[in-house]
Amino acid sequence: MIDQRDKDTLNPYKFIDLFAGIGGFRIALELAGGKCIFSSEIDKAAQQTYQNNFGKKPHGDITQIEAHDIPNHDILIGGFPCQAFSIAGKRQGFEDTRGTLFFEVARILKEKQPKAFILENVRGLVSHNKGKTLKTIMEVLDSVGYTANYRCLNAKNYGVPQNRDRWYCIGFRKDLNVYFDDHQVNAYQFPKARPLTTTLKDIIETKPLTQYGMSQTASSHMKNHYKLKGLYPSEDQYTLAYEIRRSRCSFSQHQYSPCLTAKMGTGGNNIPVIFELERKLTERECLRIMGFPKWFQIEPLKQSSYKQIGNSVAIPVVEQLAKELIRVLHQTKSGNKQAGNAVTTNVMSYYHVKDDDCVDVLNIGPQMDLFSE
Ligand SMILES: C[S@@+](CC[C@H](N)C(=O)[O-])C[C@H]1O[C@@H](n2cnc3c(N)ncnc32)[C@H](O)[C@@H]1O
Repeated sequence: MIDQRDKDTLNPYKFIDLFAGIGGFRIALELAGGKCIFSSEIDKAAQQTYQNNFGKKPHGDITQIEAHDIPNHDILIGGFPCQAFSIAGKRQGFEDTRGTLFFEVARILKEKQPKAFILENVRGLVSHNKGKTLKTIMEVLDSVGYTANYRCLNAKNYGVPQNRDRWYCIGFRKDLNVYFDDHQVNAYQFPKARPLTTTLKDIIETKPLTQYGMSQTASSHMKNHYKLKGLYPSEDQYTLAYEIRRSRCSFSQHQYSPCLTAKMGTGGNNIPVIFELERKLTERECLRIMGFPKWFQIEPLKQSSYKQIGNSVAIPVVEQLAKELIRVLHQTKSGNKQAGNAVTTNVMSYYHVKDDDCVDVLNIGPQMDLFSE
């Protein structure tokens, strides 16, 4: 006889991947046991990367997609773009978010009523417009039928060697009676901080990578500022230099990298440079810093690839959030606390560090068997 858990394994939780980028969110959900049944991404270059890795091109502009054309799903995920908050909060209520891309999330939640969602954004969302934007967002989520809560989590505290502080919002459809209070039986628990086990040292390649060298001018600006700041090399950590200009340069000497952002794709000297090796981070190293698995492919030596990586998510953080979400959904379904606990497996079991695949990123075949829709 097949028990409920076996049935769930055969029918994993179906999710839709909005503002899909290159699919970082998707990988996290698939590692947690979900199955992607729909994705949307407007940017052509990101769509191409997505297709190379998952075998299917995402649908385009979400504002042009009717909710009834989106398949029914259990979980909605989306890191909606953050530039569109300018009109939110001027007035109270749902109307204020109209025209922003968060509204697209709300529209789909309202019509499709999935069981749960995970949203991601920059930490700045919390203080934007003196907190009014966030207040509006939480009110809208409530008004479309969800109990939601959020945390700002820094990836470096969740196993990822990057100083990436992000807003994560989790929501459950109200009829599921899931809460965020530890004292409740059906409680969603945000993950607890833990020490880093994979550091930047484990990620950086030491072999020569001449294609990633920096210009003479940038190198001399970087060295001047290094001297001016009185920095010196450390045995067990690299120095990353970023935003290198004649007048200023930022340095990070930690076991983790500074936050990788889409700005890396804007040219100039915005890709962090490893001071000791006098070269930029490779795309492969950036992918590792975001927690992407080894099989993931991205076109090398292209600015748009860096932009796509910087726009993505720290996969192990979302994986932890998603595993807990699926555990709670299991528990809700079976009404059996024990059964739900068994869903959580080793987080980051796939986390890959350096090996010989550093530059040759396009030669690895896609893993269609794992990720077919
Ligand atoms: C912050 S990124 C999210 C990246 C994604 N979470 C990942 O893991 O790669 C936001 C994405 O939303 C996309 N986007 C912006 N407007 C859109 C629209 N109207 N429809 C679909 N995608 C859109 C952008 O191109 C960008 O890739």
